[in-house]
Amino acid sequence: ATANIGVVGLAVMGSNLARNLASREGNTVAVFNRSRSKTDELLATHPEANFVSAFSYEEFAASLTTPRTAVIMVKAGKATDAVIDALVNVFEPGDIIVDGGNALFTDTIRREKAVRETGINFVGMGVSGGEEGALLGPSLMPGGSDESWITLGPILRSIAAVAEGEPCVTHVGHDGAGHFVKMVHNGIEYADMQLIAEAYDLIRRGTGKSPAEIADVFAEWNRGELESYLIEITAEVLRQVDAATGKPLVDVIVDQAGAKGTGAWTVQTALSLGVPVSGIAEATFARSLSSHPEQRAISRSLPGAEEDLEVEDVDAFIEDVRLALYASKIVAYSQGFDEIRAGAAEYGWNIDLGAIAKIWRGGCIIRAQFLNRITEAYAEAPDLAVLLTAPYFVDALGRAQGAWRRIVSTSANAGIPAPAFSSSLAYYDGLRAERLPAALIQGQRDFFGAHTYKRIDKDGTFHTLWSGDRTEIEAEDTH
Ligand code: 6PG
Repeated sequence: ATANIGVVGLAVMGSNLARNLASREGNTVAVFNRSRSKTDELLATHPEANFVSAFSYEEFAASLTTPRTAVIMVKAGKATDAVIDALVNVFEPGDIIVDGGNALFTDTIRREKAVRETGINFVGMGVSGGEEGALLGPSLMPGGSDESWITLGPILRSIAAVAEGEPCVTHVGHDGAGHFVKMVHNGIEYADMQLIAEAYDLIRRGTGKSPAEIADVFAEWNRGELESYLIEITAEVLRQVDAATGKPLVDVIVDQAGAKGTGAWTVQTALSLGVPVSGIAEATFARSLSSHPEQRAISRSLPGAEEDLEVEDVDAFIEDVRLALYASKIVAYSQGFDEIRAGAAEYGWNIDLGAIAKIWRGGCIIRAQFLNRITEAYAEAPDLAVLLTAPYFVDALGRAQGAWRRIVSTSANAGIPAPAFSSSLAYYDGLRAERLPAALIQGQRDFFGAHTYKRIDKDGTFHTLWSGDRTEIEAEDTH
């Protein structure tokens, strides 16, 4: 046995992660794929890499030094279970199986529990950064036991992206914590992308600028507080010209956004936890709406706004969009961190929220300068219940007030959909409100279902005898 780490599953992500591992001093990487051709191809195209190929699980296990450590990089779902079963058969107590796919965290909790019974460690690990990240340095979000982190920590630190001198990896928490955090990362990614898309749409419709001209706007934004990978690549996509037609590529791409499910998981989980991730939800639903061409076709002739968007001062309008984008982005991240906080409480994970912001500063899709502000906020107040109430964000939200409201009302007046902008603002105003109409909802619930309510002026639970004489009685709390 000569390999200190192995990779199972050699599609693009797996091959790139294997190459990244092999490129680090001291690593020898065992590689295995269900069909032999992928393994042969990887070895043939990268003869320089320190690989040991295996063509059966037995060979794979035999090529690894103990504790054996293997990273599974297969499509999340049934394939993952099949590979885990096969590895459990050939591994021994103390060995470590890492799932680097986009697994649903509840699957990871289940798998960890089952594998732990064999004495083998199971680690669900979020890997972000796409193909390039896997090769050059991803952001890594491992869960699993403290014991596995002792072996894994140094290996993962050596391959992770580096942001401001620190590797973008931390032991997130036990069992499914890593995949949970990766899931929320993706939810935030959906929100960030939708907000950018809405900003682009408003600028295009409001100013008539071409995609290439809007690319310049984004490139400019990328030099300020919005600096991020997603803003950077947006400029690149907008600048791309289609070779076949000579048109901007964005104009020949079908306007129906795909999704592989992690955004939906983020929203479903938030619903179960009772966390209002409305910006992430709107972003996810906006993709769904776009992907129903038949519904969109029969709706095209519906009545709309009376006025078109008319922008007098183009520069001022673009600055408004920028501020609205920044404010809405703060809301999306605040909601995402709220979900992580709530998930940690529900599942008993000890998650350092500031450390999560740190490991997202490099390697991952949502990497942004802005994450430093989040780390600072949690450094100052580790128990901060609402991220956007940290002083830096309060200041940024203060600067954006006029712009944010103008953009939301302008888009509504002109009939331009801006679901993520407007839902972020509604969330913000909901949080701020002194009184919410939730009081009326409690009254309605009590009316039709005797669901009871609390009073502002005394303890206890109450019910009004709506179908009787409408006096109030003390009641059992039914929520
Ligand atoms: C990442 C990405 C990655 C993947 C998304 C795409 O962090 O590297 O999030 O995991 O590209 O899952 O998701 P959709 O296909 O759902 O947009």
